[in-house]
Amino acid sequence: MSVQEYLDKHMLSRKIEDAVNAAVRAKTSDPVLFISNHMRKAVPSMITKIKARQILDSRGIPTVEVDLHTNKGVFRASVPSGDSSGTYEAVELRDGDKGMYLGNSVMKAVKNINEKISEALIGMDPKLQSQIDQAMIDLDKTEKKGELGANAILAVSVAACKAGAAEKEVPLYKHIADLSGRTSLALPVPAFTVLSGGKHAVNNLAIQEIMIVPVGAGRFEEALQMGSETYHHLKAVITEKYGALECNVGEDGGLAPNISSLKEGLDLVKEAINRTGYNEKIKIAIDVAATNLCIGTKYDLDFKSPNKSGQNFKSGDDMIDMYKELCAEYPIISIEDPFDREDWEHTKYFSGLGLCQVVGDDLLMSNPKRIERAIQESACNALLLKVNQIGTVTEAIEVVKLARDAHWGVVTSNRCGETEDTFISDLSVGLATGLFKAGAPARGERVIKYNQLLRIEEELGDQAVYVGEDWKQSL
Ligand code: PGA
Ligand code: ZN
Repeated sequence: MSVQEYLDKHMLSRKIEDAVNAAVRAKTSDPVLFISNHMRKAVPSMITKIKARQILDSRGIPTVEVDLHTNKGVFRASVPSGDSSGTYEAVELRDGDKGMYLGNSVMKAVKNINEKISEALIGMDPKLQSQIDQAMIDLDKTEKKGELGANAILAVSVAACKAGAAEKEVPLYKHIADLSGRTSLALPVPAFTVLSGGKHAVNNLAIQEIMIVPVGAGRFEEALQMGSETYHHLKAVITEKYGALECNVGEDGGLAPNISSLKEGLDLVKEAINRTGYNEKIKIAIDVAATNLCIGTKYDLDFKSPNKSGQNFKSGDDMIDMYKELCAEYPIISIEDPFDREDWEHTKYFSGLGLCQVVGDDLLMSNPKRIERAIQESACNALLLKVNQIGTVTEAIEVVKLARDAHWGVVTSNRCGETEDTFISDLSVGLATGLFKAGAPARGERVIKYNQLLRIEEELGDQAVYVGEDWKQSL
């Protein structure tokens, strides 16, 4: 849009003239301030410029960052990326040129923002989130956002959301709550990844994450302290048992000793919790990410070992027996992806046992159709919300509504490849999701999200509600 078109579109010449006349009539002593205040009210808030760039995520892999300019300032957002990707999730556009970042550069997505998206959105009001998101969906025209790239669309959607909050002069979490039609805000219970395995770590543990969940804390701040102390006790337990060299960490910051069984991991975590003295206040959650272990109809609990003997293969029924035993022995309150994403039968059966919350991550891929099917078939009872699998803030809000209407729990989640963006922290408070998983209580790209929750709790003061024991049923 040319400057002249921009001025014409918003009738700015006329409005400036009106402001000058009003200043004269008011005989103001500060006409510049008077006119600029007048104009601020007279001109609808609008996106004036969008500039994207390629940056690196926490794994050193390129991702998209965008600066969205409005009359109120510049609003920055960047998008994460994960190991699990599937046919049902929105497309992450990568260039595929092996000569550039081994094929992982995202310059096409950046170009799409700087040209097509930018042209479509300049002049729009950043408060109108659903219209902005719809404009990008219309421009893309594909079901999975493969044309522009979900990484391009989400970066702009999140930046616009931040700009919308600033325009309304309310905190981001409050703006998100408004967009979803909610009035109650809540600080989630953090699920800290303290032990890493699966595709996230170089060890023999097949299971992806063992998390600690401080449901008994009185405030988020206390939960963070519990998480940090347990993490450090765990480091000491591992050092004593296997030596300091076993204290490497996985992609999400969880400790990654070379253990090979889930039970061994749970014993280490249990011992660490015992040492903190918090005991009953801290529960355990697991992300099996079982799709990675699945070979045909079997689950290979040695899937990372080079000599596949087949000895540690388990059937779906064996997996159920294993979970039953573990739930009886350890304070496990939640298991994510206990079976392959297409193994609906075992997931359904296990969920029906009611031993713990069953979270669908790879099972659902945050996809509304998969969520609806899972609701109908009672396949699981909680949604893992990964915003970049959907691609816009509006659609993320919609899937949370779907889950909530089915009385499911909701876990707001990070990805293994993260950035310094803290949007998901505000999202979790604004949508009052029960749990919040952002990796270990260590490493910059993880703690930045937990620290943001600390600040929100402080800002809310007496109004702050920590979900605590009500973690299961988001408020
Ligand atoms: P991902 O892992 O980011 O590698 O997909 C996160 C998860 O499985 O919860
Ligand atoms: Zn997962």
